Amino acid sequence: MSRPVVIETVAGMREALAGVADVALVPTMGALHEGHLALVDRAAELAGTVVVSIFVNPLQFGPNEDLTRYPRTLDADLEALAGRGVAYVFAPPADEMYPDGGTQVRVTGGPVAATLEGAARPGHFDGVLTVVAKLLGIVRPGHVVFGQKDAQQLFLVQRMVHDLNIATSVDVVETVRAPDGLALSSRNRFLDADARSAALALSRALEAAASSADRGIDAVLAAAQSVLMDEDLVKLDYLKVVDPRTFQPVDDDYRGPARVLIAARVGDTRLIDNESLYLT
Ligand code: PAJ
Repeated sequence: MSRPVVIETVAGMREALAGVADVALVPTMGALHEGHLALVDRAAELAGTVVVSIFVNPLQFGPNEDLTRYPRTLDADLEALAGRGVAYVFAPPADEMYPDGGTQVRVTGGPVAATLEGAARPGHFDGVLTVVAKLLGIVRPGHVVFGQKDAQQLFLVQRMVHDLNIATSVDVVETVRAPDGLALSSRNRFLDADARSAALALSRALEAAASSADRGIDAVLAAAQSVLMDEDLVKLDYLKVVDPRTFQPVDDDYRGPARVLIAARVGDTRLIDNESLYLT
């Protein structure tokens, strides 16, 4: 099956898309799995020309994070994309995106970017938003597709597009899970058999939380916590319920749509997951 055309330069990407109006972009860091491919399929429904970017963005990794360990599997990624209606893979080297080593001007995510994932990973979301802004500037897509899996990232990208009047529509795809419930992630490959099985506590905790939603926020948190505490290999980083409109933690008496967010270290691997629920 035909593979996408790989483009490594900003000028090459601009040239390929000159005069093409109907473009959807799927930003990724590669190591593609079925979660990413669901985004690609959505993009193909939305536009005639699909671009997938594959770029492990140094700007969003902290000094002690897994930038060098992050899987780079371009050949397998191109094979996975073959026959899926992707015209171009934009896979620039780091010095093409950051010829000066970084950028002087950055997009900052504001208060929400300093909480949750941003508290655990200072500067992470500024790096994400800056690279997404660059990709949107390079590709200028009518649609850009993101996964619900990274709920806080999605929220901040939506805010950026809204606050900065960027002319694109942000489309969302629900989290794709393995049959046993584990949310697909490029980092799952680092889990050995014991860790893989312990990691199921995250999705089970979300299920327990959602099924307690009619008993209030304390019951939701207690239900999730008890599942997570049962797994010795799972070291909880945070368990929070936020208002999806503001991404602020909800008050005790909150009623309405909410999102439960979990981050935990399982062995050496940090995993995140989330689920929507309705507090009555
Ligand atoms: P990456 O982790 O490769 O994820 C790329 C996109 O795939 C994100 O929108 C993410 O939410 C989505 N995704 C990952 N796992 C998913 C799953 N199981 N189900 C549905 N969607 C899933 O997120 C990034 O890269 C980077 O931060 C990026 C936005 C590319 C900026 O560098």
